[in-house]
Amino acid sequence: MTVSAQNSGDTRKGGATTAKAKDFVPPYPFRYEKMPPVWSLIGMAKRNFLSIWGVDDFQGRLRSKKIFTRELVICNRPDVVREAFQTNHEVLQRKSPQMRHALQPLLGDGLFISDTETWARRRKVVAPIIHGSRVRGFAPIMIETIEEKRADWATQGEGVEVDALADMAHLTAEIICRTIFGRQLGKDYAAEVVQGFSDYQRHIDQIDILSLLGLPEWLPRFRGRAIKKPVERIMTVLDKIIASYEAQKENGEASVIGGLLDARDENGEPLSRDAIISEAAVIFMAGHETTANTLAWAWFLLSQCDKSRAKLQAELDTVLAGRSPTFQDVPNLPYTKAVIEETLRLYPPVPILAREAMADTSIGGKSVPKGSLVMVVPWLMHRNPVLWSKPDVFYPGRFLDPKSKKPNKYGYVPFSIGPRICAGLQFGMTEAILSLAILAQDFELKLKEGTDVQPVARLTLRPGENLPMTLHPRHR
Ligand code: HEM
Repeated sequence: MTVSAQNSGDTRKGGATTAKAKDFVPPYPFRYEKMPPVWSLIGMAKRNFLSIWGVDDFQGRLRSKKIFTRELVICNRPDVVREAFQTNHEVLQRKSPQMRHALQPLLGDGLFISDTETWARRRKVVAPIIHGSRVRGFAPIMIETIEEKRADWATQGEGVEVDALADMAHLTAEIICRTIFGRQLGKDYAAEVVQGFSDYQRHIDQIDILSLLGLPEWLPRFRGRAIKKPVERIMTVLDKIIASYEAQKENGEASVIGGLLDARDENGEPLSRDAIISEAAVIFMAGHETTANTLAWAWFLLSQCDKSRAKLQAELDTVLAGRSPTFQDVPNLPYTKAVIEETLRLYPPVPILAREAMADTSIGGKSVPKGSLVMVVPWLMHRNPVLWSKPDVFYPGRFLDPKSKKPNKYGYVPFSIGPRICAGLQFGMTEAILSLAILAQDFELKLKEGTDVQPVARLTLRPGENLPMTLHPRHR
């Protein structure tokens, strides 16, 4: 199925050039010179959050809008992002009401949506379990799973059509299940876990209009009953997996569940069963679709840009010379890493980072009343022309070229920044680099003719509902 511009909220399109052009500008939605009224933007935001921005929103530094009763503050330069997410962390650590309402039924008091003492306690326990220093131990599981995908692709003939988005979602779900639950349990239960989560996601919507309009939080939401079933199913599966894990607790293999079961807080207390289930759900949810979307976008971008694809293949052929990469090879694949970084810049899987002000505060000298929604929008800042040269062009080399204009770490935030930075950053980067390295060594993917790809953001930023591409084995 092609992704029509209608899906993206506005029937007019923004940019995109063909592979023949010198610079490849991948697609983005139309940008307004003159903004339409707020009520029509709200309707559009529900369909696609990327389609509601004007030219000025990309360039601005600190903008605020009042939407009915709620003040919306958008930080779009490194200095104000730093002030909001680092300096003001205490006051701005609470996730937006939309995010909390969407995920609370599933994640309970899990790290991703908790705040204050609960968040601080959980972060201390959970972050070390998936920390960069543990990724070396998870890498063999990642590599084995990616090689299975390669073998599966190898059984398909030249030019066979695949849905690159579904394939990458399947791959990253398998990887995260096997790392959370261990190789065997991960394999046994992956399909059930994935089914439960996708059922849940179908019922939720990031843009909770009631909350955006500032209506009271106790007002009932309509979807309550609909999501009860998928939540129950996920909880039952997770409980079953943990019980099986405890029963067999064998081979000393690195697994997240093992880490959660063994974890102790400052008082030497273990996590409760509910907390373990919540955190396993957090890690599955946070670590699966984000990496899948990154890889799907990378395949699309590479398919449209001959120069970048050739550079990537040259690096893989030189460094790996036909063998599979190991964890130790990752630092020797700088261009592969730059492709992932550039993909995350152009299509950040989490395109909006929103917080609710827990008390009155200020950012950049502007007062921010309690209850305001403070946003960092990677979608805007990663394309801010003040910070980047040729911001809409796909050019991985910008991450390698010291002369290329780039902002500091507060201006490039696909993993967020500050104390709530993604706890799985190294995990996700390593997984994405290894996946691209192993698969792009042996295959080229071409976009199915006639497919119109447009970015759509609801919970995460995706190339629509699917990404039809054809598989072409490489003959090295
Ligand atoms: C390319 C892949 C990934 C991207 C782009 C990404 C991005 C993000 C972002 C933007 C946040 C903050 C969200 C917010 O502030 O609203 C976040 C949080 C988080 N991510 Fe990731 N993530 C990725 C992969 C992973 C993986 C693989 C894991 C686990 C293995 C993971 C675990 C987490 C956790 C636990 C949090 C919550 C941290 C907290 O609130 O303290 N992420 N991620």
